Amino acid sequence: MKIALLPGDGIGPEVAAAAREVLAVLAPDVDVEEHLVGGAAILELGSPLPDETLAACRAADAVLLGAVGLPQFDAADVRPEQALIGLRRELDVYANLRPALGNGIDLLVVRELVGGLYYGAKGTRDDGTVFDTLEYHPAQVERIARRAFELARTRSGRLTSVDKANVLETSRMWRRVVEEVAVDYADVELDHVLVDAAAMYLVQTPARFDVILTENTFGDILSDEAAGLTGGLGLAASASLGDRAPGLFEPVHGSAPDIAGRGVANPTGMLRSVALLLEHGLGRAEPARRLERAVEVALRTTHTPDLGGAASTDEFVGAVLADLT
Ligand code: IPM
Ligand code: MG
Repeated sequence: MKIALLPGDGIGPEVAAAAREVLAVLAPDVDVEEHLVGGAAILELGSPLPDETLAACRAADAVLLGAVGLPQFDAADVRPEQALIGLRRELDVYANLRPALGNGIDLLVVRELVGGLYYGAKGTRDDGTVFDTLEYHPAQVERIARRAFELARTRSGRLTSVDKANVLETSRMWRRVVEEVAVDYADVELDHVLVDAAAMYLVQTPARFDVILTENTFGDILSDEAAGLTGGLGLAASASLGDRAPGLFEPVHGSAPDIAGRGVANPTGMLRSVALLLEHGLGRAEPARRLERAVEVALRTTHTPDLGGAASTDEFVGAVLADLT
């Protein structure tokens, strides 16, 4: 089996190195090949997602990405983030799973990842008006809804669909399609919550949620909120899955240019993404559980600066490896 590893920018290479170390222990038979992405790829090859990187991803069993984004490209036409947007669409990884675990919270955000505002028509009219459009086809809603119901079955059997049906046409369609899919999942308890209320409940009574199903932009925002409530972006992992391999696995945090190159990035989000990769990407649940447990153990004793400690990335990885071996 083969993993395409895309370290990317900022702290990306540092957390990617951490991933390599644990993969060498937990999946020594798997090939890990590195490829350029993001700002690093723009600087070297002129494109955030070079053809050779995309081809290597398609040929892999799973894709593991560090982070993309460099301040020098913030206002540029060609930006590192376009690699993520492009890769998600090219691999058609429409189901973005973002578990939020910690501080007494245990929930899963299922974010639609290849539709909505990110991919709708955009442009500038003659009068100077700039627009991004929120578009969904019912088939896009149906497939992500099915995935969320399936996931809810493996957890508590509760699913909350989040929308803005009091204002948006797309949300009214979303709600109707989710209700239609629900007929096939009578064992799952479904409710609908408006996105503004969901943002508040998440802070006030997070236990009311188990699986949250939502569209791309709402999911972007709510998953950061959930990450913030469970210990910060440094801890959060994600899996982006389509109907076939490869899936795309990445920490939720960005490239954090302010701390890049100092060896202090928290690799937890990345290592938890490796656990998701082992389970959902390679079908290896046993090493995935071992890694999740080892990360829990390391988090008890070893704190990087984002968690108020002074441990380095290497020290954290050392604590994880000590539990694994
Ligand atoms: C995320 C990020 C990306 C997104 C950015 C970097 C394009 O915020 O994965 O949540 O908005 O999807
Ligand atoms: Mg985000």
